[in-house]
Amino acid sequence: MSFPTHRLRRLRRTERMRGFVRETRLSTGGLIYPMFACPGSGVRTEVSSMPGVHQQSPDRIVEECREVADLGIPAVILFGLPMHKDDTGSEAASPDGAVQRSIAAIREARLDLLILTDVCLCEYTSHGHCGVVHQGEVANDPSIALLAAVAVSHARAGADVVAPSDMMDGRVGAIRRALDESGFADTAILSYAAKYCSAFYGPFREAAQSAPQFGDRRSYQMDPANAREALREVALDIEEGADIIMVKPALPYLDIIQRVRERFDVPVAAYNVSAEYAMVKAAARNGWIDEQRIVLEIMTSIQRAGASMVLTYHAKDVARWLKSC
Ligand code: PBG
Repeated sequence: MSFPTHRLRRLRRTERMRGFVRETRLSTGGLIYPMFACPGSGVRTEVSSMPGVHQQSPDRIVEECREVADLGIPAVILFGLPMHKDDTGSEAASPDGAVQRSIAAIREARLDLLILTDVCLCEYTSHGHCGVVHQGEVANDPSIALLAAVAVSHARAGADVVAPSDMMDGRVGAIRRALDESGFADTAILSYAAKYCSAFYGPFREAAQSAPQFGDRRSYQMDPANAREALREVALDIEEGADIIMVKPALPYLDIIQRVRERFDVPVAAYNVSAEYAMVKAAARNGWIDEQRIVLEIMTSIQRAGASMVLTYHAKDVARWLKSC
């Protein structure tokens, strides 16, 4: 039976009716706000390619976290910048690092926020790669032990969830074992499982000062052309102990989010990354797009594809807009 029996416009007549039959409902409940912690105090420097996003010292991180919590956003993810970079990124696991100090400060402020931390070496190594370099190559197995030590240092500082973003093979298992052996069996792992080698990380590398000094990340991050391989990455990370898995970037990889959602029964997160943010901001500043509508449509598409959590630099704006809707 079709027209005139069926008229799909019946359910589109009024906003009341459209809201009533809406399949995807946005809420602040799945938002994760990324933040960049740097050494010092009183520091707050805007990232030029990411308007509204700052590198901040721990005292300023706490101030913004208060605002984030007041907006009803449940979680932040912290990235760190070191005082000094070296070959092995040794500052990444320091108890006095900007991330570790920020966690302690947020805890001390007793904010009702989940604290996630990015576990990687690229911000801390002089060569900018996500693992250690041996004879010109990023060496997998020696990197894993270092990453596990970083994760334990975050857990010790009080992180709820550690999120390895390095894409070394076997790092989730190594991190799970290290956490368990150090008494952090309750610290969860969100793995950047399907992380693509993407040009959409450009502005982040300014924010985190983490651009590789030679070569690129193609030998460890995924080829954008591959979808089935993403399912293998996710399956292995779940087997190794990942509690939550992530697809990254989000908008150019909605098909991957959908496939992962259909295949696996773990929570799925998506990272709406720096260039996705920067493109929207640049067009909005030029008056070429309606920023609020564009961002809410993007958030809807990511959730509709199957992600239950979204890491996004738009989180504070989204929370404000949803409040006033
Ligand atoms: C670190 C890391 C990156 C991002 C998150 N963690 C950059 C990279 O892999 O070069 C990108 C996030 C963004 O672009 O917003 N490995």
